[in-house]
Amino acid sequence: ITHDSASPLFEGVNKELSVCMGASTAARLPGGFRAAGEGVYENPEKQIYALMFRPESEDTEQGQDVLRNFVTRICGCRCEWTTASYVDTAVRDIREQVKDGRVICGLSGGVDSSVTATLIHKAIGDRLTCIFVDHGLMRLNEPEEVRKTFADKGINVIYIDARKRFLSLLAGVTDPEKKRKIIGAEFIRLFEEQAAKFDDARFLAQGTIYPDIVESGNRHAAVIKSHHNVGGLPERMDLELVEPLKYLFKDEVRNVGRSLGLPETMGDRHPFPGPGLGVRCVGELRVERLDVLRAADAIFIEEIRKAGLYGNIWQAFCMLLPVKSVGVRNESRSYEETIVLRAVKSTDAMTADWYPFPPELLQKISARILKEVPVNRVLFDISAKPPATIEWE
Ligand code: XMP
Repeated sequence: ITHDSASPLFEGVNKELSVCMGASTAARLPGGFRAAGEGVYENPEKQIYALMFRPESEDTEQGQDVLRNFVTRICGCRCEWTTASYVDTAVRDIREQVKDGRVICGLSGGVDSSVTATLIHKAIGDRLTCIFVDHGLMRLNEPEEVRKTFADKGINVIYIDARKRFLSLLAGVTDPEKKRKIIGAEFIRLFEEQAAKFDDARFLAQGTIYPDIVESGNRHAAVIKSHHNVGGLPERMDLELVEPLKYLFKDEVRNVGRSLGLPETMGDRHPFPGPGLGVRCVGELRVERLDVLRAADAIFIEEIRKAGLYGNIWQAFCMLLPVKSVGVRNESRSYEETIVLRAVKSTDAMTADWYPFPPELLQKISARILKEVPVNRVLFDISAKPPATIEWE
């Protein structure tokens, strides 16, 4: 577009912009409005502005400047939000809401639930009880790391070792949706059983973040919620929700985590689905197969971190495929399954594209996995979402 607006909305913004444009235009303008170029309508006297392009889109040049101008120069807001001020406000709000009650919090090891728990602990100390269900579908050393992090902080965590139980329920199941349903239902059952032991608990903490709310009309957000946020529990158990992160974006949650002293490796961790490796181990879930996947995944992540690329990637992980191929190991024939590397760039997981690693790094990762893990093939997934999804199952 080209515009000639002299309004504060466009202060510091170029007259010519490449924008993500809506399909329609205004047929007739109400009194007091003028068109200040294509798709820009304004009533300077009333300070009302209408844009036919999307300033929030990443494809719009200087869209963030337009939004900032609107908030600061037109609405008159001051930019005084900081992570530290947020922590203080959240702590005060939690105390006010919970009073002398007890809060139950499900820990997954992910950023959102970890920051939620730490924040609530800061507010109410021992009246927070965390429940960590180890379904055996976590990444290498993850359960130990979670336990250690929270023990170091003096946060009360009930650890439930349900590894055998989950694997026996999942034995022989290969259908992805069946796997997800079994994992989700059992997770809720175990959580509920533990939570019920605290009959003074009136609150359930959830790591809901702002995008969960914004996207709640979206099919996927619903899926993420139903598992991750222990869906259905608050109503069933008559618990009131405590959601201290619900106005934060992911990067803000990470900053809060840092300022609360959570380890860097926990704060910057890539998202991990509730059903865990259950949806990354294609085919049957057996402990030997999960161990192979865990070992390969740890190598992949270690090499990405060593190369300094971890923070540039939205998500990186391995999958194990039940497809066997022939190899030669220790001078004899071997017949083993296949590892797939998946790494994507994304800003919100709604769309994603594969991450272009330097070939030398792929070479190194593949060589290490083939040497250290009993698989005979390492493949690299170059599928964009859509139509592919990030997770395979
Ligand atoms: P897809 O595979 O649909 O995934 O492209 C989009 C994002 O959602 C994550 N994901 C989940 N997160 N519970 C979660 O908490 C789930 O059941 C679940 N399934 C997918 C996925 O890792 C990606 O970041």
